[in-house]
Amino acid sequence: MNVLPDEIATARLLLTPLQPGDAADIFRIYGDAGTWQHLPSGRFAEFSQAEQQIEKSQASFRECGLGMWAVRVGAEGATAALPAGTFIGSGGLQYLPAGAFNLGYRLAPTAWGRGFASEISREALRAGGEVAPQLAITARVLTSNPASAAVLEKVGLSLHWEGVRAGEGSAGAPDDPLRRIYADRPLNEALHNWLVRNA
Ligand SMILES: CC(C)(COP(=O)(O)OP(=O)(O)OC[C@H]1O[C@@H](n2cnc3c(N)ncnc32)[C@H](O)[C@@H]1OP(=O)(O)O)[C@@H](O)C(=O)NCCC(=O)NCCS
Repeated sequence: MNVLPDEIATARLLLTPLQPGDAADIFRIYGDAGTWQHLPSGRFAEFSQAEQQIEKSQASFRECGLGMWAVRVGAEGATAALPAGTFIGSGGLQYLPAGAFNLGYRLAPTAWGRGFASEISREALRAGGEVAPQLAITARVLTSNPASAAVLEKVGLSLHWEGVRAGEGSAGAPDDPLRRIYADRPLNEALHNWLVRNA
C-alpha cells in the first residue's frame, strides 16, 4: 500500500489525518446548525460523536491508507478573517464497510464559497487513485444541497443514482428528501444496494 505523507499541502490548504486532538474543532463544526442546514438531524449533540468520528477515520487510515483529513488554511489561502492555520473542517475519503470509499466534506460556514471543498475533493481523488485505486470512490448527497452536488460534479464524479432511500425508519416517507449517489466508476449490484440502503 502506498503511504501518504503525514501532512499534505494543496494550493491553499493543509490536510492532516484526523486525530484525537482535533475532537474539539470537529465538535465545534459538526455541532454548528449552520453546517447541517440540509440535514438538521445529523447535528452532533455530544462530544463523544466527534471522538467516534475521529476513531472511524483512524480505522479507515489503518484499513486502507486513507480516511478523513483535518483541514486548515495554508499560507496561500489565508485572509484576515481566516488566518493561516485556522481549522475549517474535515474532508476526505472514509472507507465504507461495503468495500468502497465515501467522499465527504463539512466546512465552517466562514470558509464556504472559496472553492475549498473542491480543492479537498480533488486531492482526495488523487490520493485514492494513488493509495487504493481498486476501491470505488462514491459520494452521497441530498438533492436539496446543490452546493455539495456542484462540488461532486465539478471534480468529475458521475451521477449514479437518484431516488428515495430504501432503508429503515423515515426512509421512503413523503418528506424524506431525494438523495443522490455519485461515483467515479460503474458500481456492482451489491455496492449499489448497500449505498441505496444507506444513502
Ligand atoms: C457543501 C460545502 C462543503 C461546499 O463547500 P465550498 O468550499 O463552499 O464549495 P466550493 O466553493 O468548492 O464549491 C461550491 C460550488 O457550489 C456552487 N453553489 C453554492 N451554492 C449553490 C446553490 N445554492 N445552488 C447551486 N450551486 C451552488 C458554487 O457556486 C460552487 O460552484 P462553482 O465553483 O462552479 O461556482 C459547504 O457548503 C459545507 O460544508 N456545507 C455543510 C456541510 C455539507 O453540506 N456537506 C456535504 C454533505 S453531502
